[in-house]
Amino acid sequence: MPNGYHQHNGKNLLQQAELAVESAIDINDLDQIRVKYLGKKGALTLELKNLSKLPIEERPIVGEQINKCKKKLLDIISSKKIILEKVEIENKIKGSEVDVTLPGRSWGLGTIHPITRTLRRISSIFEQAGYKIETGPEIETEYYNFTALNIGDDHPARNMHDTFYIDAKALLRTHTSPVQIRSLENHGAPIKIVAPGRVYRCDSDLTHTPMFNQIEVLKIDKNINFSNLKSFIFQFLSSFFEREVELRFRPSYFPFTEPSAEVDVLSESGKWLEILGCGMVHPNVLKNVNIDPENYTGFALGLGVERLAMLRYGISDLRLFFENNIDFLKQF
Ligand code: DAH
Repeated sequence: MPNGYHQHNGKNLLQQAELAVESAIDINDLDQIRVKYLGKKGALTLELKNLSKLPIEERPIVGEQINKCKKKLLDIISSKKIILEKVEIENKIKGSEVDVTLPGRSWGLGTIHPITRTLRRISSIFEQAGYKIETGPEIETEYYNFTALNIGDDHPARNMHDTFYIDAKALLRTHTSPVQIRSLENHGAPIKIVAPGRVYRCDSDLTHTPMFNQIEVLKIDKNINFSNLKSFIFQFLSSFFEREVELRFRPSYFPFTEPSAEVDVLSESGKWLEILGCGMVHPNVLKNVNIDPENYTGFALGLGVERLAMLRYGISDLRLFFENNIDFLKQF
């Protein structure tokens, strides 16, 4: 009996499908089962297509039965889907459990560059002695870098400075001494300033880099003499090195000071090391900023910051300061 056959077959398929749905392990699995029975070429779909082969009076009855099976199957698939989705979410949560006992990820704190540390340390020693911090531009004019500092146009010292020129008049400052002139122009005398900053020279080898840092110190007042300068330098260097330093003043020459000297420090390993240049401010420099040299005198000095940092931290290669090797920098 065709009717009985179809009814039986539809129920049979439904039972099979129900079992399959029940044992589906995930959404993917479930979807494959849906396609197998209800897809375009699915078993139940084919049953419906085959209706046309039945005698016309049986078609509505069998058709209804198949549609009922389809609906039932859709229902159990969608309730199974809800269960499986829940399980999937639960598994995801379980898998991503937070272990609060694990140590946190550490990002490591940055450190202050040894040159910056040295600059700050030196500046703070001078600040404590009542010196004001001044700065000036790194792109300077010939006037401030040379002329006003008593280095005339044909002065041989201009060659010694290995200057980076930008054009005929502008240049990268070769020392921090131009800040002396700018500060005197702005504030006049008396004055006590310290000027840290970058300077540039066209020079590069084991002990020279095209950019380095200097600190300039200037004191102008009434009755300043060379012994004031000597004791000032002794106090500063003893404070910087945290020991009573032994110093050697060697006569030297700078166009902007007269007399001039270079100062050596006796290192702990017994070597004399050149540390700074200094002298009594040249009367011509004072005249250039309209200060009467009969009325005021003063001293000035210029320090190489990298050199002081090398001595303090026991570093023998200047280039280490500029290579940004993290392992090196982390030590400070
Ligand atoms: N400006 C000098 C240089 O770069 C250093 C210097 C020497 C600065 C003597 C001074 C000084 O203020 O008095 O070589």
